[in-house]
Amino acid sequence: MSRSLLITRIGELVTNAPLEGDTGPGPGPGPGRFAALRGAALVIDGDRVVWTGLASQAPPADEVADAGGRAVLPGFVDSHAHLVFAGDRSAEFAARMAGRRYEAGGIRSTVAATRAATDARLRAGLSRLAGELLRQGTTTFECKSGYGLTVADEARSVALAAEVTDEVTYLGAHVIPVEYARDRAAYLDLVCGPMLDACAPHSRWVDVFCERGAFAADEARAVLTAGLSRGLVPRVHASQLGYGPGVRLAVELGAASADHCTFLTDADVDALASSSTVATLLPGAEFSTRQPYPDARRLLDAGVTVGLATDCNPGTSYTTSMPFCVALAVRDMRMTTEEAVWSATAGGARALRRTDVGYLAPGAKADLIILDAPSHAHLAYRPGVPLVYAVYQSGRRL
Ligand code: NIG
Ligand code: FE
Repeated sequence: MSRSLLITRIGELVTNAPLEGDTGPGPGPGPGRFAALRGAALVIDGDRVVWTGLASQAPPADEVADAGGRAVLPGFVDSHAHLVFAGDRSAEFAARMAGRRYEAGGIRSTVAATRAATDARLRAGLSRLAGELLRQGTTTFECKSGYGLTVADEARSVALAAEVTDEVTYLGAHVIPVEYARDRAAYLDLVCGPMLDACAPHSRWVDVFCERGAFAADEARAVLTAGLSRGLVPRVHASQLGYGPGVRLAVELGAASADHCTFLTDADVDALASSSTVATLLPGAEFSTRQPYPDARRLLDAGVTVGLATDCNPGTSYTTSMPFCVALAVRDMRMTTEEAVWSATAGGARALRRTDVGYLAPGAKADLIILDAPSHAHLAYRPGVPLVYAVYQSGRRL
């Protein structure tokens, strides 16, 4: 039998509680709007939250933990990360900081290093990054393939990813590898055929880098449609480096998210606003490429659901820190502290179509963080400070 735990004397409890009357397909109805309670308490039983409310009204429990006035938040949900790779691109980063432009081609150097790496080396890199994520409060994360680009290397990438998360994304269509540079059609046949066959059993999602220098709209549509036919749900790298068709393609195919969204036309914003596709913003990429940040205010004001994620990858955003992304979103993307925290928790859950994470209310998974600070705002107010004081995943303190 599980023992219940009461966490009390919570200075601020961010709940994102479901709205009254919400129902959903999962164990809980899923996150609602940003919501927070002061002077709160929460009870965990097994891997679930069973009660939230005012500390003065808390029910008894087997054990009690005193939060000492600290803030408690849902664990971060990082819906976009590329964690299976080998090699180092710090020299490319340094060159960019010295004035060179980012081009999608840098991906190929990571592909070469990843192909040359042993499984053990890739697994070690992945578990190091997964550990970093967890220590910084991320309790759910997505992980893409995309640095293998052969049937065997993509298959092992998704298999390794599946060892650390349920949210595995097949990204065989990251770029055209050098050996297919003169025969794009043959590579697309591979991605939509044997490579998909090898990767689908380990994957939940299919993604494509729809961008000049990577894949065009018709190519991206073919990849996503092939994935759909195998039960994978689309997500799209769209409009990171320039205006393009990716966002509208994502909406057309009912993608869970369109990610980056840095260069958007009014038609793109309208399409997102009238869809259930989440716009996932990845400010770590703009930070590390010195590009302009996406216009979060425009999206929010249009009624688009906005998610925030790290895009952790060796080329354009080598960070595992959701607190860092929250700080960038608040400081440089004009999101309020509430909006940024919502997007990093509930927004990520929406982007991964999860109804059990991103909020703290009865029925939710007991994935939460305690900050060494009295409110969520400190995540942006105290940038770069390791404020994550404790992490609980499935009710267990790590
Ligand atoms: O999300 N845009 C495509 N993929 C990565 C970049 C990967 C790389 O440069 O290695 C991104 O930014
Ligand atoms: Fe990415």
